[in-house]
Parts: sequence; C-alpha cells; structure tokens
Amino acid sequence: MSISWSAESGEFHLRNDAISYVIRILENGCVGQLYFGAALASGRSYRHLGPGEFHGFSNRLGEPVALEYPSRGAGDFRVPALAVEPADGSTVLELAYVSHRILSGKSPIPGLPATYVERGDEADTLEIELRDQISGAEVRLSYSIFHALPVIARHVLIRNAGTLPLTLRCVMSACLDLPDAEWHFVHLSGTWARERHVTSRPLAFGRQSISSQRGASSHQHNPFMVLRRPWTTEADGEAYGFSLVYSGNFLAEVEVDPFDTTRVRLGIDPEGFSWRLNPGSEFAAPEAVLAYSSSGLGSLSDTFHRLYRERLAKGVWRDRPRPILLNSWEGAYFDFTEERLLRMAAAARELGIELFVLDDGWFGERDDDTSSLGDWHVDRRKLPDGLDGLGRKIGDLGMRLGLWIEPEMVSRRSRLFVEHPEWAIGIPGRPRTEGRSQYVLDLSRVEVVDHLFAVLSEVLGSAQISYVKWDMNRNITEPYSLALPPDRQGEFFHRYILGVYDLHERLTRAFPEVLFESCASGGGRFDPGLLAFAPQGWTSDDTDAVERLKIQWGTSFCYPLSSMGAHVSAVPNHQVGRVTPLATRAAVAFFGVFGYELDPTALSPDERSEVADQVAFYTRHRDLLQRGRFIRLLSPFGGNGNETAWMTVAEDGRQAIVGYYRVLNRPDPGPHRVKPRGLDPALTYRVTLWPPIGDSLERTNALVRGGDDLMSAGLFIDSDRQESARIGDFQARLFVLDATPRQG
Ligand code: GLA
Repeated sequence: MSISWSAESGEFHLRNDAISYVIRILENGCVGQLYFGAALASGRSYRHLGPGEFHGFSNRLGEPVALEYPSRGAGDFRVPALAVEPADGSTVLELAYVSHRILSGKSPIPGLPATYVERGDEADTLEIELRDQISGAEVRLSYSIFHALPVIARHVLIRNAGTLPLTLRCVMSACLDLPDAEWHFVHLSGTWARERHVTSRPLAFGRQSISSQRGASSHQHNPFMVLRRPWTTEADGEAYGFSLVYSGNFLAEVEVDPFDTTRVRLGIDPEGFSWRLNPGSEFAAPEAVLAYSSSGLGSLSDTFHRLYRERLAKGVWRDRPRPILLNSWEGAYFDFTEERLLRMAAAARELGIELFVLDDGWFGERDDDTSSLGDWHVDRRKLPDGLDGLGRKIGDLGMRLGLWIEPEMVSRRSRLFVEHPEWAIGIPGRPRTEGRSQYVLDLSRVEVVDHLFAVLSEVLGSAQISYVKWDMNRNITEPYSLALPPDRQGEFFHRYILGVYDLHERLTRAFPEVLFESCASGGGRFDPGLLAFAPQGWTSDDTDAVERLKIQWGTSFCYPLSSMGAHVSAVPNHQVGRVTPLATRAAVAFFGVFGYELDPTALSPDERSEVADQVAFYTRHRDLLQRGRFIRLLSPFGGNGNETAWMTVAEDGRQAIVGYYRVLNRPDPGPHRVKPRGLDPALTYRVTLWPPIGDSLERTNALVRGGDDLMSAGLFIDSDRQESARIGDFQARLFVLDATPRQG
C-alpha cells in the first residue's frame, strides 16, 4: 500500500519511489496540506511542516496555511477551491473531517473521463469525507497515487446531505499550496493554426491565470500548466505539472500572496458557472492530474505521456499501431465525385498508405460550408453507391475507409434545423450568432444526444468504416438551454460537455473497432478529456512544416506522440503559403500519427517515389515514432527560433531517431552539434541519416559511436561550406541510431 495513515499525528502519506504527498487533519478538523514533492521517508511525521490549526486570518497573525480544499468566506482570503451557497444565501462552509477510506485501485468518475488502472495494484486511492454540519454539504476528496508514476490524480465529489438546496459557485478539481513563489508559470497558448505555443513567465504578486469561456478547452489555452523553477531546464530541475481531464470551460490559476506563498487551483471555470444541488444529489468535478519532476521538464512530459497513452486513452486502438492515412480535405475540399476519391485512394494505396479518410462534404447537400450539418445521410449526387459502395471499393484497393463527422453542429440550411430549430443553442428572443454558417446543438439535452447517437449509429453501421474524425468547428455563443429553468442556466456549459462525453461513450462502445480522432478546427479541443475516447487528435489545421515545429513541440509538453495527428500537405502551404521541401514536411510529420493531406494524383513521379520512401520509412519505424519516449532537445521558442531538435527513443534505449530542423540556412556554418539524450551510454550505435543523400553531413555522422560519445559530444548538424551554400532554407535531417549487437 502506498498510502499510510497515522491516527496519532492525523497524517496521510501518499508515497511511491518518486513522490510524496502529505496531508494532515488539523486539530480542528480542517484538512491541511503539508507537502507535495520528491519522495520523503515513510514512517515519519511531517507535522512540523504545517501549523496545527486553521482559524482563518486570526491564525498566526494571518500567515497563510496550506489547505487541501479551502472554501470561501471563512478567513482564507486567497482564491478558494470551493464556493457554495446554502439556501439562506450565505456563503460560508466549515468543512471538517468525518472519515476516510484507503482503497487499492482507482474508481471511475460518474459521467466523466478519467485515468484508470487495469490492475488493482497499479494505484491506491485515498478518499477523505468532509462535512459542513450546518448546511449538510458533504465533500469527498479523492487522491489516487500511481505506483510507477510521479502522479497524483485528484477529484472531488460534492453531496447535498441536507434538507435544502445548495448552489455550487466554484468547485475546483485541485488546489495546491506551495511554500514559495520562485516559479515560472508555463502554459500553452495560441489561436487557430498556431495552437499550444509555449509561454513562460515568472510568477508575480497577485493572481495570474489561463482559462476558457468558449464551451471548449479552446485553441487559445490548454487545460495544462507547469510551474518550473527559473533554472529548470528540459533535463534538470524541479517542475510541477497540472492537467485537467476536461474539454469545456476551465480555469488554471496561480495566486501569489504577500508572504510569497503560491496557491494553484485548477478546475471548471467558476465564471458563469453555478449548479443547483438538490437534497440527496451529487456533483462530480473533473479529474485533475498533478505530476512532479525533480529532473526537468522532459521527465514531467514523460510522465504525462505514459499516463495518458496507457491509462487515459482506452479501447482497442490504445495499443494498436495507428494506420498511415490520406485525408481528402486539402486535396479535394468539397470538390469530389466518387470517381475522384477512388483515383486519389488508388494513388495513395500504391504509395503504401493504409487508410483513406473522406473528410467534409459527403452528406446532405454540402457543396460548401454553408449547409447540411445535421443531415447525416449520404449525398448520392457525389456517392451514387452510398458509403457502403465507397467502402467496398476502397476495401477492394486494400485500404480502409475513414469518415469525417461534426455531430455537435447544425447548419441553418439543413433539414434538421427546419425540423428542430429549438435544438440549436440560443436565447429565446435574441438572434443567434453564426460561426462558419452554423449553430451548435444543445447537447445538454438528452433527446439531442439520443438523436445523434441514433443517426450516427446508422451511418457507422451502414458501411465498413474503421475510422472517424469527429470535428467541432465553432465555439458556443448565446449559451442557454431551453431544457433548463432560468435560475439553472449556470449549469449549461458543463451539461453540454457531459452530453459530448455521453455521446462519445455511447458511440465508442457501440463501435469498439472504430479508431476515433478528435478535431476542433484543428486543435481547438485537444485535451485529456477527449483523449480518453479518441486516442489521437488533429493537432492543428496548420500543416506547414515550420509552424508545426512550434505546435508539436508545445503539444508534447503534455500529450504523447500517439495522440498527435501530423500530415504532409502540398506546397505552397494552404495556411501560410510557404514552400518547404517534401522531405522536411515528412521529417516533421513523422513525429506523431503520420499521414498525408493532399491530392496524390497531382504528385510528380519524383515526388511519388519520395512519398513511397517516406511511407516505407514511417512503417519501418512506426512503433518508435508513435510510442517511443519523446525528448525535446533544441527549442523553436529558444534563441532566435531558427533551430529545433527532438528525438524519440525506444523503451530499452536500443533505437532512437533524432530530428534536426533549421528554418533559415546559415552561410559558412561551422562545426555545430546537437546532443541526444536518453541513450544507453554503455551501448554503441550505428548512425544513419534520412533522407540518405550521400552528402558531407552523412559522411561525418555515419559511424558507429558509443552512447556516451553521442550524448556527451553530439551529432554533427552542419554540412561543409560548399554544400551548405546549396541546400537552401527549411532543411531537416533525421539521424537514426541503432544499437549494434552486444558482443559475446
Ligand atoms: C475543420 C478541420 C479540418 C477539416 C475541415 C472540414 O476545419 O479542422 O481538418 O476537417 O473542418 O470542414
């Protein structure tokens, strides 16, 4: 058991080889927080790390007390974890310890995605029950510690055990108090086509936060943040990671108080949120995952990658090699016939591509983006033999068929909107705002979810469909549900996401063999909540290789390679007009779930043979490129951003691929090197370069070298002066490192 309880000191110690999390029930029943960080010895008391009691601001002249789940109005003037209004309109709860349970394993959270265990011995769970005597509000704090990962997964359940309704105003999933403020706040921010850029800033006095109010986790911010020491690097130093398993409005906030302590809170954004909790009912907050690293940002990411790849993603595709796909979108947009699609698919198949994904435009009368969302029946003008016919013909080519859907939406020009205008989200008497000529369906209503499940089941059951790209192309405006009374509209956004999860749950259960990929105008809902249902996501609509360096680098802070859809597209690139070499586009897209997003019939013979080589390379190294340990080496956000390097290394260290990318070429480059990490210093590796073009770079690197030599002295990354003058901008090279057989 990795959780111990000492009745004598009132302490819980959650511990594994890497971390300790110590909680103490204070003398007056408050739940105090003593420690979260590197592992501490078991069997000792850490009571000296916190005061014995919390009595609001009268405590020790108002000095801050670290609390597990502070509530509003009782003398802790920092941001609260919980704000509840009892029926009398007051705001104060006094939560005190009632009981606890220590269990092996980890239970699911009703209605919400969460990390899980496959065997009871993978994690232990502590549940602490608290109660406010006067209102009858009961709170269960749950903490699961994974044995093999430096992770605590927390969630909170609120129950109304009183006789009058309660109104929840703020229910955070986690709150953590740290005893100093010497941290940098790192988060992933951006917008459409430049999602998850890394932002880092020193903490300052007061509150600092990221959040979403869009009804989706958003392109703008990701429900993930890191606190790192100013001196922490990729390979060294302390860092805490905070990730919310949620796809809707969220808040990740840090408050630094006048004593230079730091409070972190993470959960559903309280702005605009409220929830009526009637007597006898319960509210579950989403799961928050807290990770700690004493050896840099790289190992923090490693933790999230492992956990999310292996114990958040579910279903048969979790561990299966993911197919190399051709997506029709940038190659054909809405302009296709069955014949054109089959020509594209045949050309793709010849190149070794395995899955043909028919993107937008196959249903209703959707010749552009102004109509038909909601009318999920095949457009026979384009596909006379239906999806079934297309599926069979694609199958005859030796490929599988995938399909794009956007279930949560309805076009104004659609049969569904004519029949059910009240299903579109909007406020009676006010105009609805259109986004991409569409409205959002009210998935907080069970009849809408039932309808979508029925029609989509029919679509997926009508043909051999083995993959679904589930898109969501606009955010929610005029948030309001006709199914909720006026005083409960604060529940709308959360109920919407519960509906999204319910539909995912039902469809993934009904079609367990289908591989789901999530998408929201690219990466507008790339979050752990959806990763639980869709083990891969479309990382960004931006397929430009240079832009993708930043997007994939940032995304990798929290999300594993197996979750990141990455495609090679045509040039000039459709998002930025940039012309990059085909090899560079592939060398970037290889680091993720690989595919193409172009018209393969438009490729020249030379390009076709290049693409066939790329597909063969990826197929050969698929396991390493989808499931290897991803290590960031040279940041596109560092220096002048001209260089990026990253790598993936096999679990046993015997194989690795290092990617090196240079945006603008540099004359007379000099003998620069990049140092791989994570190799076995005792092994020797054969170094080969991709693409193999027999240049000076290949000659200087293609050797057998020791892991120690490679990691300490580095790979050469510059060609000689003459060759360098010819290679131009936007270059990439991959270094493939294969351990040589052990002697004897
Ligand atoms: C969104 C997606 C794209 C594509 C289009 C289709 O923008 O991100 O990949 O599927 O919708 O309309």
